[in-house]
Amino acid sequence: MQNNKKELSENIEVLIDHNHKFFNEDKLKKWEISQGDDYLNYRKIWNEYPKKGFVDSVPIHLDIEASSACNMKCIMCPRTDMLLDGTFWKVENFNYEKYTKLIDETTKDGKLKSIKFQYLGEPLVNKNLIKMIKYAKSRGVVDVMFNTNAALLNKKKALEVINSGVDKVFFSFDSPYKEKYNKIRVGGDYDKVLTNIKNFMKIRNDLKKTKPLTRVQMVLMKDNKEEWEEFKKLFEPIVDTVAFGWWMDYNLNNKKEDFIIKDGTTKPEGVFCCPQIWQRMFVHPDGVVTPCCFDAKRELKMGNMNENSIEEIWNGKKYTDLRNLHKSGKFYENDVCRNCALANFRKS
Ligand SMILES: C[S@@+](CC[C@H](N)C(=O)[O-])C[C@H]1O[C@@H](n2cnc3c(N)ncnc32)[C@H](O)[C@@H]1O
Ligand code: SF4
Repeated sequence: MQNNKKELSENIEVLIDHNHKFFNEDKLKKWEISQGDDYLNYRKIWNEYPKKGFVDSVPIHLDIEASSACNMKCIMCPRTDMLLDGTFWKVENFNYEKYTKLIDETTKDGKLKSIKFQYLGEPLVNKNLIKMIKYAKSRGVVDVMFNTNAALLNKKKALEVINSGVDKVFFSFDSPYKEKYNKIRVGGDYDKVLTNIKNFMKIRNDLKKTKPLTRVQMVLMKDNKEEWEEFKKLFEPIVDTVAFGWWMDYNLNNKKEDFIIKDGTTKPEGVFCCPQIWQRMFVHPDGVVTPCCFDAKRELKMGNMNENSIEEIWNGKKYTDLRNLHKSGKFYENDVCRNCALANFRKS
């Protein structure tokens, strides 16, 4: 175990989830309290570990790319850009046996608390997703969730998802207006996806279940920046929570001008320190491990689960060096971190 003693110096800011805005906070809080002590303790360490500069033997959380395939080509998505310029890596599903090995290792001492099935791809494309959720729950993972474009979420799939034990489902839906939605979410069908979300909620509510907690979220960008109020009006009566995240610039194809509505010119109050390198690890179907949600091009490869254990990677030299760099306030010496949207958003 490393980095577990030193507190961060005072001028270093560790902002948690600062690029998202959540609404219906009361509802979320109530739901969280109803989940009991295991859940609340995990949320506590999620906030505490980065601030204390503490890392355990394995991450608190895994982001597992259930599939790198996708049935949409959204205009703001880095996956779409990389497909177009031929730099996207292999399109494949996460192998189930490899997945169970990963979960067995990270849950054996009860340290892994949460999993999100996502990265660049649509998790529901992986036919084993339900099995993967059930396996994680059977191994005691407290919070299991995924993001989805909901295009494949017909009534049968909705019932399977609801009965899988998954804790949260986040629907991505980028405009309250049909024409705009279809323009942004290329390959998506506004009517079909909206119906899928409504049906999902009806099935869950008819079963009198409070799980999974649902959220509909939009990416706020130039194209839809005036639509937030309408978006909220559309979805507040349907799902549990509504949110938006700012469009993030992945530094691909100089898209800034077309998308950005919030740039990095706000003066930082302190020196940025990324929370993710103390909380979570991203694992891809080819075994590659990356440190954060921003590294779309996978430039910061921390290791490969096919070659090393998760514990070895999480406590290995690459992770330790990156943490030390951030702890010393010199995140900008790393090329990927210097350009990271999270480092540049600061407080909104
Ligand atoms: C990459 S998708 C993968 C999961 C699934 N396919 C979906 O659309 O929800 C995960 C989330 O990232 C969001 N996203 C895509 N491009 C983004 C960008 N440039 N900035 C911020 N969020 C983005 C999507 O809207 C979605 O909510
Ligand atoms: S559905 Fe998700 S992964 Fe697919 S292109 Fe859209 S944002 Fe990207």
